[in-house]
Amino acid sequence: MTVRVLIVEDEKLIRWSLRQKFEARGYHVTDFENGTEALAALDANVYDLIMLDYKLPDMTGLDILRSVRERDADVVAIMMTAFSSIESAVDAIKLGAYDYITKPFDMDDVLHTADKALETTKLRREVRELRRHIQHEYGTDRIIGTAPCMIELYEVINQVAESGASTVFLRGDSGTGKDLFARVIHYNSDRAPRPFMNITCTALSESLLESELFGHEKGAFTDARTTKKGLFELADGGTIFLDEVGDMPLGLQAKLLRFLEERTFRRVGGTHELSVDVRVIAASNRNIEKAIEEGSFRSDLMFRLNVIPIYLPPLRDRGDDLRLLTQHFVAQFAHEFRKPVSQIDDEVYEKLLGYPWPGNVRELRNVLERAVLLSKGTELEVSDIVLGKLDHQDHAEDGGFVLPPKGIDLRDLENSLIRQALARTNSNQTQAAKLLHLSRDAFRYRLEKLGLL
Ligand SMILES: Nc1ncnc2c1ncn2[C@@H]1O[C@H](COP(=O)(O)OP(=O)(O)OP(=O)(O)O)[C@@H](O)[C@H]1O
Ligand SMILES: [Mg+2]
Repeated sequence: MTVRVLIVEDEKLIRWSLRQKFEARGYHVTDFENGTEALAALDANVYDLIMLDYKLPDMTGLDILRSVRERDADVVAIMMTAFSSIESAVDAIKLGAYDYITKPFDMDDVLHTADKALETTKLRREVRELRRHIQHEYGTDRIIGTAPCMIELYEVINQVAESGASTVFLRGDSGTGKDLFARVIHYNSDRAPRPFMNITCTALSESLLESELFGHEKGAFTDARTTKKGLFELADGGTIFLDEVGDMPLGLQAKLLRFLEERTFRRVGGTHELSVDVRVIAASNRNIEKAIEEGSFRSDLMFRLNVIPIYLPPLRDRGDDLRLLTQHFVAQFAHEFRKPVSQIDDEVYEKLLGYPWPGNVRELRNVLERAVLLSKGTELEVSDIVLGKLDHQDHAEDGGFVLPPKGIDLRDLENSLIRQALARTNSNQTQAAKLLHLSRDAFRYRLEKLGLL
């Protein structure tokens, strides 16, 4: 793409020599000898670089700079000043000029400064474009559904996004859209230009999770060779999404509670308090009340998090949304896989409506992805729909599995879960027992019973 340079300079010779240099590089150059014409040109065109003289016949370069900022926040301007007006150069930088060069100048210096400035304009525009893209990706219209319970939710999330409310708690079974809602809340709030940081509390050990969240000082522990900022610091001004907060170790729960109450924290190994402005969105698909009873979750933290509770209903309670979501996903996958499917047989809906959807929207999405792949022709048929076979770790509302319509062999299920727990933990019995919420003895007893020991 051609680089477009605007030169505003009343000295003819300087104008001419700058033009020569830039044109020699293949840039498209426009020049003016006064501010009025330059401003008119700025109204009508987009430039990548602006070379501004400070002293113009009808105004100063600073006046132009101000208007530039109003029109295009990303374009970079370089102020050209006589050495004596160095103070105005400082003013110019304050007003957002990228740099200044003093006259008389060396052309190589000018070109070098211009190169850096052009790179900056390019990066700023890329960042803006990416941001626009993400914002579009997580616009409120990304959430499909018109069931009354969903409409209520939209009102709540709009209020939350607009308000300063700093803590939100998203509850709902697996696949109901907690992740999606967290992002929509962030990208539709005035925090959107600042970071959205997300972490799953299940995945890490207590000490690793602590240093991920709060950072650490150099030398805090053996591997801490440098000081590292945690997610709370990195998310300053933005949002941190704590997924599966129900699995956060108790020790860290105390630290999170302290942050929520005082908005300050210490890095691991740190001695002073840091404070940041971060919205915390926590999510859990676990039954927190039960975790509190069992002593694995602090009730005071639950109350703190619960300032704005948002409960995402299971798909089976969303009535006709199933139809809307089905149409949405079928259209999406047909497009993605270049399949001609555009109609959906009524029997398909009947079959889908008769299923309890333990894995909620995620499961529906997976089922339809596969259905579209299997489909032949322009109509999705009931034989394309395969239910209940997909590998989901989904739980019913009460925390248990949904009993399949044909029933299930409990011993087989137990056997399979025990084997999976062992496989996932590399046969570490203590960890495997933990995954199944059993004591190690109870776990070994079952291993023996199933002949696995
Ligand atoms: N109302 C909705 N409209 C459109 N897509 C949705 C909706 N709800 C969920 N989805 C999609 O379904 C999938 C699962 O949603 P998401 O990951 O947000 O669930 P979750 O509640 O975080 O699940 P988990 O508890 O397992 O982490 C995602 O692809 C998400 O974009
Ligand atoms: Mg999730």
